[in-house]
Amino acid sequence: MTDKKKLGLNKKDSNDDMINLVDNLNRDDDMKFNRRAFLKTAVGTSIALGLATVPFSVRAMLGMAEEEFERTEIAKTADVPKGSSVTFKYPTDNDPALLIHTKNGDWLAYNSACPHLMCPVFYEPEKEELVCPCHKGYFDLHSGQPMAGPPQRELPLIEIDISNGVVYAIGRKVRHG
Ligand code: FES
Repeated sequence: MTDKKKLGLNKKDSNDDMINLVDNLNRDDDMKFNRRAFLKTAVGTSIALGLATVPFSVRAMLGMAEEEFERTEIAKTADVPKGSSVTFKYPTDNDPALLIHTKNGDWLAYNSACPHLMCPVFYEPEKEELVCPCHKGYFDLHSGQPMAGPPQRELPLIEIDISNGVVYAIGRKVRHG
């Protein structure tokens, strides 16, 4: 006589729910195996997804930049008098941007695609503001934050450095989450 348990028709000597589910022909057991297999799969998937986001969370907590930026010449300071602006592309040729020399002598730069529907934002020196003409969107000149109109998000800030009469773009900050 053997020690092996006596098993019913179509029963497997296994504790693995997936094996029992596949081989099971009994409707009562079917519900039990289905539920347990589903719960195991759901929990496993949740854990896997949670672990997959850990590197991004750590990077965000440490404030690590997600992009590397090149130092890129925008313009010579002599070519951008107070109360004027020039357009350029940064960090790629698909990212239109605006360098502004305010009437007070401040230098500012933003990506200029309106966060509403991507129309180009321009500098209005008379009122010292940034304007999107498509749907009358207004942005604060010194922060790039939306002030009025449909835009809900700010313009990405381009970090600049001025040396030897040349303005360089050196980085970009996308400040919304
Ligand atoms: S595209 Fe700028 S306000 Fe609509």
